[in-house]
Amino acid sequence: MSRTHRIALLPGDGVGPEVTLAARRVMETAAANLDVELSFDEYAIGWAGVLEMGHPLPEATLQGAHAADAVFLGAVGDPAAEGVDPERRPEAGLLALRAALGLYTNLRPLKVISALADTSPLRRERVEGVDLMIVRELAGGLYYGQPRELTGTGEARAALNTLRYDASEVTRVAEVAFQLAVARRGQLVSIDKANVLETSRLWRQVVDEVALGHPGVEYGHMLVDRAAMELVLRPGQFDVILTENLFGDILSDEAAGVAGSLGLLPSASLGTGTPLFEPVHGSAPDLAGQGLANPTAAILSAAMLMEHALNLPAAARAIEEAVDAIFAAGTRTGDLGGDAGTAVGTEAFTDAVVARLVGSFSSA
Ligand code: NAD
Ligand code: IPM
Ligand code: MN
Repeated sequence: MSRTHRIALLPGDGVGPEVTLAARRVMETAAANLDVELSFDEYAIGWAGVLEMGHPLPEATLQGAHAADAVFLGAVGDPAAEGVDPERRPEAGLLALRAALGLYTNLRPLKVISALADTSPLRRERVEGVDLMIVRELAGGLYYGQPRELTGTGEARAALNTLRYDASEVTRVAEVAFQLAVARRGQLVSIDKANVLETSRLWRQVVDEVALGHPGVEYGHMLVDRAAMELVLRPGQFDVILTENLFGDILSDEAAGVAGSLGLLPSASLGTGTPLFEPVHGSAPDLAGQGLANPTAAILSAAMLMEHALNLPAAARAIEEAVDAIFAAGTRTGDLGGDAGTAVGTEAFTDAVVARLVGSFSSA
């Protein structure tokens, strides 16, 4: 047996703990059936970090993340945090963690599950077979640019954020995106706002330079406003989408809309330190504590964890196939149109995935 893989669990806020439990159960099931040893340590983050330890990224959480082989995060964000100092906001904990772990590449796949093509707001023929990967720059741009401030009172109030990229920040994430395109269908679209923004003009120059090293990739540029439209009109045209931090945040929620729910999209954040895996969705305060959240995004993030951080692609495929099978069997959480009479909650959905996973290993 190989050594024990250490996973830091950061359940966070709202539905975060509910979907983190689902992800943990699925990881435990896959590991047990593959004779892989996992250990889990839980740490507070977000508003839970503030309440328990006085900080959205407590020191113990940061140390635990550094020491782990992978971090799994549920979600951060709580309505009670409205109006608190910016550095005590739950989101600040997540942003600080991404920065501390050097996570500059955020992979956000949208792979439409055939059985769910009819739950998309788009017609089946537009979404069937859609399989795209958003590569979002995660360590720079408006999220981290200095200076930033909100000053003054009354009519004298003013605010400032800084959008800055240097060439090396673009090069490193573009390299990852091109390599991914090579391993996928060989197509890449880089999305920017080069008709208005200097940062986007730099982005284009650097992407053009990186492209020279990958002549087999068919690639082009698209302005972000048009890209937002194309993503709903013809999502099937995209293979790899490469874009900066804020555009990637927005377009990935739009991609979730194409899929039919935010509860479906997983993500992986990679860079120089411990990789981090989290659903694309937030803490969903409207669902929190009710056992109603769709755990699919979290479960598929766990699959990405097993593939990217633990090098267990077989476990990842088994988890994805179990999720596909549960949807093919008609199981639906409320966000996917399951109505009050037929919808299952987080726990029942996870039970079904776990049972299916056990079955797939025993029949293999
Ligand atoms: P949200 O993603 O929490 O919710 C948006 C909508 O999607 C809501 O209607 C919600 O019910 C639904 N939804 C989200 N996850 C779902 C799931 N698993 N199953 C079923 N439905 C689901 O976004 P929001 O309402 O804009 O933000 C709420 C809080 O979450 C804010 O504090 C925000 O900062 C935070 N947030 C955190 C993350 C993160 O931790 N990575 C991501 C996005 C937002
Ligand atoms: C996401 C979230 C975060 C982001 C917030 C909570 C800081 O929206 O992961 O998509 O904007 O990156
Ligand atoms: Mn987001």
